[in-house]
Parts: sequence; structure tokens; C-alpha cells
Amino acid sequence: MIDHDIIVIGGGLAGLRAALEADKKGVDVAIISKVHPIRSHSGAAQGGINASLGLDDSWGSHALDTVKGSDYLADQDTVEILCREAPERVIEMENWGTNFSRTEDGNIAQRPFGGAGFPRTCYAGDRTGHNLLHTLYEQVLRSGIKVYSEWLVTKLIVDKEKCVGFLAMNTIDSKLESFRAKATILATGGYGRIYQRSTNAIINRGSGIGLAYTAGVPLQDMEFVQFHPTTLLGTNILITEGARGEGGYLYNKNHERFMINYAANAMELAQRDIVARAIQTEIDEGRAFPGGYVQLDITHLGNDTINERLPGIRQISIDFAGVDPVKEPIPVQPGQHYSMGGVSSNKDGETPVSGLYAVGECACISVHGANRLGGNSLLDTVVFGKRAGAAASDYIVSQEAISDDILSKAIADENEMIKALMGESGENFAEIREELQAVMQNNVGVFRTREKLDLAFERIKELKKRADNIKVMSKTNVFNFELLNALELKAMLELAQVITLGALVREESRGAHFRTDFTERNDEEWLKHTLAYYTEEGPRLAYKDVTITQFQPKRREY
Ligand code: FUM
Repeated sequence: MIDHDIIVIGGGLAGLRAALEADKKGVDVAIISKVHPIRSHSGAAQGGINASLGLDDSWGSHALDTVKGSDYLADQDTVEILCREAPERVIEMENWGTNFSRTEDGNIAQRPFGGAGFPRTCYAGDRTGHNLLHTLYEQVLRSGIKVYSEWLVTKLIVDKEKCVGFLAMNTIDSKLESFRAKATILATGGYGRIYQRSTNAIINRGSGIGLAYTAGVPLQDMEFVQFHPTTLLGTNILITEGARGEGGYLYNKNHERFMINYAANAMELAQRDIVARAIQTEIDEGRAFPGGYVQLDITHLGNDTINERLPGIRQISIDFAGVDPVKEPIPVQPGQHYSMGGVSSNKDGETPVSGLYAVGECACISVHGANRLGGNSLLDTVVFGKRAGAAASDYIVSQEAISDDILSKAIADENEMIKALMGESGENFAEIREELQAVMQNNVGVFRTREKLDLAFERIKELKKRADNIKVMSKTNVFNFELLNALELKAMLELAQVITLGALVREESRGAHFRTDFTERNDEEWLKHTLAYYTEEGPRLAYKDVTITQFQPKRREY
């Protein structure tokens, strides 16, 4: 058994920031991660991090944009925290060494992003996540925080409604180990890979969200899935909104800047859900290029600007699509990008289970509501990562370590479960996963209908049944990826079911959730958060109020 006061599951930005805060408070904290921290998906974030640093800007204006962008589903008290604390967190990252791009006079440069009233997005070229992640990892190295890399957490241990630790498999030798912690912080990122087309890394399978769900923590607002408008045709690698922020145009096959028909004022910088729907409409109505894409043209920005501000997307386009954006437009299409929903948690990352915290994309602290603004997710990680690290450090002071028995019993049960998975013939995890990804892509995407959602829900039920018969044939103990993938599939199926049911029941259109059979937002019936509870028979839904403080819901217009 391994013992720490606090263990953070996940080594991306939110997890590292939480661990640093706990360390600063003198707590024995460790990080455990499926991959080495600098391979976390935070490193793929391109466009930037929002903070109202400009003289004419203010946290209030940032908050208004965030709430409006959320289609009024975000909780305004937590949005206030996000926007008020943003400048301090960004300057802190700068002081720790983040290499932000600069203005001529040496200030942190800020670019316009969709749905923002001011150029508020601080950036490091188009590799902002990479820069931030390395900065925080350097701080973790400096602090000497223990990091367990390449471990998959398989189960949270909850005793008398308190999280007391978890079980994890060391992927190097496939051995299960128990970890005892007075507080556990989930910072495991999103579930993008339950879709066929996603900007997410292949590690983003939602297993952390699944851990909390099956341990009894409700998931909140899971039907709100963000589709990024511009992902590279073929691989769906992110092509940053920063490209449009720097002045890029979107064209259909008739060389029309079609955004004029969808958001005549904001054009390419309308909010993400609006641009994604516009592109999908062009595709569905036959005005896109064969193969289902539109063009993102930045050629007019010129060689120097592209190389200085967008070098990463230039390289990605050359390497993965054979297109040099200096000379020709980039072929793009919408793809799953982010989860607005997640483990229900409060302003300090506390979940309804004591001792369990959740932050970053795996959490729903409800700052993004029905549609997240670009640049607010990196901000979310550092603001709420810090707060959760602090809150967990305060919490553990009054906690006693539990006896070993609970963990020993749990590990014996888990070993039995894994033994039963091994076999010579049965269902193959990869086939089920591929079918799941197709079901989600085709039926729970940018545009949704009752028929498609009903079909998806039934198909997922069938896939869950088939998954009960999965057998792992690979017998290796060293990096047994078949076993790891099979273990992670369970959460993918559970989350897909929660997303689909939430979307089916929510008969309105709000933010990223668009029902072609209920095209209007319906505040009277649906201005409320969805909560999904795990049961053996499938998710049970409940609802809770949205916190509204200063911005009364209005129609969004751009
Ligand atoms: O387009 C982007 O660079 C993405 C940013 C974000 O999701 O915040």
C-alpha cells in the first residue's frame, strides 16, 4: 500500500496546479498519471488563456461574455471567481516562466477570440498549453513532489461516503496497488475519444469521470459537448481559433464567406457553437467541398505573421494534410473538442463525496454552462486547480488515515475482476469501441433529434451488454494495452449513455446542445442543470437550479 495525505489523479495543468498548492501548504502530496505529465493533453492547447489584463477591460466584462457564451447555463458565482482571479493566475504563470508572446512595448500580448468583447486571450504563439504545462511541471520538479507516471487508476474507494483512496495498475508490470489518501483530487481531463472525430489525445477516454460516477458522484450537464469548428480534415487535430482571431476567413466551395449568413457582426469570431453549426450546415446542405470540409484561409496574413503567431498550425497542416497555410487554405471540419459537463463539484472542487475533489475538464464547476468560450479552459485549470489544492489541504487536517483492511479487501475484489477479464475467446474491446465512436459521431453530434438520440441510446445499451463478454487475450504483464483499453472502455460506455440520455430528455436548444426538433432555448422549463446518477440499470436523472447573480438571461445575438 502506498500512502500520501493528498493524491492528485492526473498530471495535466489542473492536476499540477492543485498539487503545487498543496505542497505550498506543507502537505504530503503526490501525483499519479496514466502518462508522464508533460504528455498530458493540456499540452495540445493552442490558442490561449483568458484574463482581463487590458486597461479598458474588466473582470465584469469577461464574466458577461462567459455567461452569455454559456447560453446562461453557467453558475454566475463561480464565473465571477474565474474572471476575478484570472489576471493573478496568468501573471503567476508568467512569473514562473511561461513564455507569453509580447506586444511591441513588452506587455503580454492578447488576441481576439470568439465571443469575447475584448482581445483578452494571452498566448504563447499557438503553443500556449505546451508552454503552461512545461512551466508547471518545472515547478513540480523544483518542489520535489512525488509523481507516479504510467499508472491507470481503476477504482475509487469510498467508505461511509468518504473517499479514502483508490486502486491503480502499474502499467509497466500490470500489478494492482492500493493508494491510501485522506483526500483525492481528480484532474483527469475529458472523454473526447468516445467520438470518432475529436481534437483530443487518445488518452482522453473519460476514465476519471467514470471513476467518480460509478463511485456515486453525480455527473452534471453532460449533454453539453463542445464541437470545435475548425479541426484538420483527416486527423481532426485542432486548428486554433487563434487563426481566426488573427484574421482568418472561412470559405465554402463557392468561395463565399458564409459566416455572413449566420453571425453577420461577429463573422468568424462568433461563439464556437454558432461557428460549428454554421460549418456543419454548409456541409449538410451541399456547399462544402467533397469529403465534407470548408476552407480556413490565412494566406493573406503573410509569411511573417503566420510564422510568428501560428507556427504550430502551419507545421501541423504541412505534416498531416500536406497543405502549407502560407500558400493555400486549410481544409477544416467540426470535431468534438471539450466537455462542458463533468463531475459535479463546487467552487473549491469539492464533490458530494467528502475527500473527493474534481477540477479541470473532468469537473463541472459550472463556469462554462452550455458552451465554453475559447481560452477559458486553460484558465479554469489554474484558477480551480489552485483552489482545490488549498481546500483539500485544509480538509485533511481533521482527517484520520483509515485502516488497511478496506483497501486490502478492495484490491482482492479488483484482482478477481481482472482475472475474469482474461480469456481465450469473447468480445473484442476494439470492435465495441469503434462502434461506440460511430454511434456517438452519427447520432449525438452537432445537430440532434429524438430519433437519432433514441437510436443511440438503444445501441449503447446493446454495446454495454456485449462489453460484459469482453475477453483480453494478450497475456503479457508488460504494458498490456489490450487489458488497459478493455478496462477503460467501461467508462466510455457509461459516459456515452449519460450524454445521450441527457440530450434526449432536454427538449430545447441551448449552447452546444442543438435539437432540430426543439430549435429554441426554453428558459421556463430548461434553465436548470442536469445531474446523472449511476445505477446498474442506467443513469437516473435529476435537476438543480442555475445560480444567477447579475446577468439575467437574454437572447444571444452576434
Ligand atoms: O482554438 C483553440 O485554440 C482552442 C482553445 C480552447 O479550446 O480554449
